[in-house]
Amino acid sequence: MSAFHVTRLLPEDATAAALRADVQQGLTSVPKTLPPKWFYDAHGSDLFEQITALPEYYPTRAEREILLARAGEIAAELPARTLVELGSGSSAKTRHLIDALTGLRTYVPVDVSESALTQAGEALTAERPGLDVHALIADFTAGLRLPATPGPRLVAFLGGTIGNLLPAERSAFLAAVRALLSPGDALLLGTDLVKDEAVLVRAYDDAAGVTAAFNRNVLTVVNRELGADFDPDTFEHVALWDAGNEWIEMRLRSSVAQTVKVPALGLAVDFAAGEALRTEVSAKFRKEGVRAELASSGLELARWWTDTEGRFALSLSVAG
Ligand code: SAH
Ligand code: TRP
Repeated sequence: MSAFHVTRLLPEDATAAALRADVQQGLTSVPKTLPPKWFYDAHGSDLFEQITALPEYYPTRAEREILLARAGEIAAELPARTLVELGSGSSAKTRHLIDALTGLRTYVPVDVSESALTQAGEALTAERPGLDVHALIADFTAGLRLPATPGPRLVAFLGGTIGNLLPAERSAFLAAVRALLSPGDALLLGTDLVKDEAVLVRAYDDAAGVTAAFNRNVLTVVNRELGADFDPDTFEHVALWDAGNEWIEMRLRSSVAQTVKVPALGLAVDFAAGEALRTEVSAKFRKEGVRAELASSGLELARWWTDTEGRFALSLSVAG
C-alpha cells in the first residue's frame, strides 16, 4: 500500500510575514531586489514547467540525460531507502532515479510550491504503488527538519537551483544539508556549468517570452499578496551574464519613471526610467569550485558526471 501526505512546515501566516519582510527589505535596498522563491505560486510553477521544455533551456534536458545514463550507478553507490528532494517542483526527472532505487520506501519532496507538490505527489503515488510520498511544504533555506524515515538517505538537489542562492546563502545551505546527513547518506547535486555566454543568455531570454513572463510573475504575486499596483507591462525582462561572478542575472527594468504603491507595507517605491530590480541570479559552476564549496561545508565530492556535451554536472558527495 502506498500513501501520500503533505506536511506544511511553513504556516501560511509565516509565509505571508516572510513575503512582507522580503519585499520591504528588497524594494528599499539599493539596487532594488526581490528574492526568487516568490516566483513560484501556482502560475509561476506552471511557467517554470514550460521553461523546462523550451528549445533554448538546455539544463533540464542535460540533467535528464545524466540521470538516465547514471541512475543505476547512483543507486549502486547509494542504495537509498529514503530519497529527499529539495525544490522538487514537478519531480519529472526524479522518476528515473526513483526507478533505479529498487529498495526505496519513502520519497520526501520538499518545495515552497504547494500546487507543484500536490500534483507531483498525486501522480507519483498513482504510478508507484508501494512508495510512500511524504511531501513537505517548506523553505529549504530555513532550518529544514526531515521526517524520521529509514536510511540510507539520498538528498537530491537538482535543476541547478543551488545557483539561485548567493554565495553566502550557498555555504549556509550546504552546511545545513551536511547536518542532515548521517554516515552512509549522500547528497546528489545538479550544477549548471560555465559555458559560452550566448548559450547561457538565450537559456534565460527565450524567443517565445516564457522566461520574461515567469520573471514578471513575481510582480503579480506581490500585487495579489500585498495589494501592490505594479504594472508588469512597464517592466522589461533582462538577462545578462556577469563574467566576474560567473552568474546570469535576471532583472526587471522599469521602462518609465513611476511610483509603485505597496499598501500592505505603507510603501511608495520610486523607479527611475531604466532602473532595474534584480530578481534572480543563476550561478554557473566549474568542477573545482563545486568541490571547494562542498569541502568548506564538510562535504566530500565522491563522483562527478556530466552530459555528453559537458553542459551540466551531477555530483554525489558524502559527509567528509
Ligand atoms: N527540481 C525541479 C524544479 C527546479 S525550479 C527541476 O529540476 O526541474 C526550483 C524549484 O525550487 C521550484 O519548484 C520552487 O518552487 C522551489 N523553491 C525555490 N526556492 C525554494 C525554497 N527557498 N524552499 C523550497 N523550495 C524552493
Ligand atoms: N533553477 C532555474 C535556473 O536557474 C530557475 C530558472 C530558470 C529561473 N529560468 C529562470 C529563475 C528564469 C528565474 C527566471 O536555471
